Amino acid sequence: MEFSQLVQARRSVRQYQAGVEISDAELEAIFAEVILSPSSFNMQHWQFVVVRDAARKQTLRGLSYGQAQVEQCAAAVLVCGRLDAHHDADRIYADGGEAARDKYVPMIKGVYKDQPLLQREEAIRSGALAAMSLMYAAKNRGWDSGPMIGFDASKVSSLLELPANISPVMLVVIGKALADSVPPRAYRRPLSEVVHLETMSGASLGA
Ligand SMILES: Cc1cc2nc3c(=O)[nH]c(=O)nc-3n(C[C@H](O)[C@H](O)[C@H](O)COP(=O)(O)O)c2cc1C
Repeated sequence: MEFSQLVQARRSVRQYQAGVEISDAELEAIFAEVILSPSSFNMQHWQFVVVRDAARKQTLRGLSYGQAQVEQCAAAVLVCGRLDAHHDADRIYADGGEAARDKYVPMIKGVYKDQPLLQREEAIRSGALAAMSLMYAAKNRGWDSGPMIGFDASKVSSLLELPANISPVMLVVIGKALADSVPPRAYRRPLSEVVHLETMSGASLGA
């Protein structure tokens, strides 16, 4: 799908056709594009837990304040971020040439050492970018999706066996939208309110 068309077509879908399954092959095609997302120092903090099992989706729905899409979707993907992704700097830069390795590996270790807030921010940033890629990659292959933060992060982390170094970023449900279930696109703030030229107090775009 052409990109502008894709952006228009992606919507947050909350009602899905029952009985639709998503295969490993389809997930592989989608995630092969998702992992091309950018990340700080290319640390690729993202991790994904794909839930397709009906009973587990039902439990997940209960931990998501009953939101039905979590149970009705083909897959509920918990997008996560690794807080200690920087520990892999040597491996990530192993094949990148000596100059890049000598420059970036010490820098990465220095920047993140004993910086838990920065570690978390980076994990969330990278995870959020990957989540956006996931929704576009899915839509491009004919799947609808919905980002969600309405869930009990602590209980979902336990259910999906997240270790302490992996933090949930958001859920992305994927499936096929129920016909006529998607309302018209909701209000968008105008460019003039959100795009500022040069400084926040500068002229606004489109004003
Ligand atoms: C971080 C994040 C969390 C969200 N959480 C939920 C949620 O828990 N439940 C839900 O139905 N929609 C959720 N949404 C979807 C938004 O309501 C939706 O993106 C917004 O209304 C705009 O609609 P659109 O994506 O169709 O353009 C979330 C979106 C984002 C980005």
